[in-house]
Amino acid sequence: MKWSWLLITVLAAVAVADDSSEDVLSLAESCDQEACQLPECRCSSTNIPGNLEPRNTPQFVMVTFDDAVNIINIETYRDLLYGRTNANGCSAGGTFYVSHEYTNYQLVNELYNRGYEIALHSITHKTDQEYWRTATTEDMMKEFGDQRKQMELLANIPISEIHGIRSPFLQLSGNATFQVIKETGLTYDCSWPTISFVNPGLWPYTLDYASTQDCVVPPCPTASIPGAWVVPMVSWNDLQGVACSMADSCFFTPSLTDEQAWFEFIVGNFERHYLGNRAPFGYFVHEWYLRAYPAVQRAVARFLDMINNIPDVFMVNTNEVVEWVKNPIPVNEYSSKACKTPVATTCPVSVCGPLSSHHTEMQYWMTVCSSCPNTYPWLGNPLGL
Ligand SMILES: *[C@@H]1O[C@H](CO)[C@@H](O)[C@H](O)[C@H]1NC(C)=O
Ligand SMILES: [Zn+2]
Repeated sequence: MKWSWLLITVLAAVAVADDSSEDVLSLAESCDQEACQLPECRCSSTNIPGNLEPRNTPQFVMVTFDDAVNIINIETYRDLLYGRTNANGCSAGGTFYVSHEYTNYQLVNELYNRGYEIALHSITHKTDQEYWRTATTEDMMKEFGDQRKQMELLANIPISEIHGIRSPFLQLSGNATFQVIKETGLTYDCSWPTISFVNPGLWPYTLDYASTQDCVVPPCPTASIPGAWVVPMVSWNDLQGVACSMADSCFFTPSLTDEQAWFEFIVGNFERHYLGNRAPFGYFVHEWYLRAYPAVQRAVARFLDMINNIPDVFMVNTNEVVEWVKNPIPVNEYSSKACKTPVATTCPVSVCGPLSSHHTEMQYWMTVCSSCPNTYPWLGNPLGL
């Protein structure tokens, strides 16, 4: 009797250990169109979901910003984004890939309550690319899995409203990036650029089967990770036709003081999508670039003014794009749907500091929507207990 219990305990322990180890992942097979069906599964492809004609397909525009949210960049977000509506009268969206260090969580709460999507960009945002390239699932769970809990406590955002991640420097960690998505119940990653599937553009897809996407910044995932979505970063072409994955990483750009030329540059890239297979169009940028170059910011505002008036173009949160791809409906139906309204949350503000940390001698100040942490929240101690 005693021995059989021992045996069961040992077997159970082995099963648990096996489950969390990385080498149980199986290599993804080439995509089986019959078996891989929406809403759960989609092969990597430039085909429009639901076999819609381009003219019946909503053109989604994903405006995204990366890094810490603070009292300086919030001004740009307020100026550029607040109060915008799409042509169907619903609030226009956007996604913030927020990194933890120096973030003001009261402002993150403000963005969330305005209907923007709050997504994850890691706790440390370490500048060591090698760290991200070789990160294990365990490392990534600490950077992103724990950041989700941190966001829930410090910005008071419902955990069920956090869906996406973007890796610092767009450096994927191979399978590990997507393992974290699966294990923590997130939905998608938006860090994987494509320069091969630009015209026509690659639509979002899942990793149940092998991806056909080009791997610009290896390592890319090759394991089967069912249900984890890839939102490809379809590159722009700069003025010499060189690909750029972020709008502020283009090399041959128009003059940074020439608003009209910048407007035409953005529209030119947009038209490749809008007049093509309508793959979601990304305007992926860092706020500093717009603040440093006011003419570029004015051009962006003009571009957004323009698309906010086109009936089949929708500036939305990235997660809404994934939601549409799961259940594709024609543009006229999509356009007349009721607008989504964010589940409002409050921010009982605490201004905390000086807080010491274990990773540096420095002291931090931070503004949060909770009581103050004891130490500065960091890797392995995301709530600063
Ligand atoms: C991903 O998993 C597959 C299948 O187990 C494996 O062959 C591949 O080497 C892994 N890739 C990385 C970068 O870990
Ligand atoms: Zn970043």
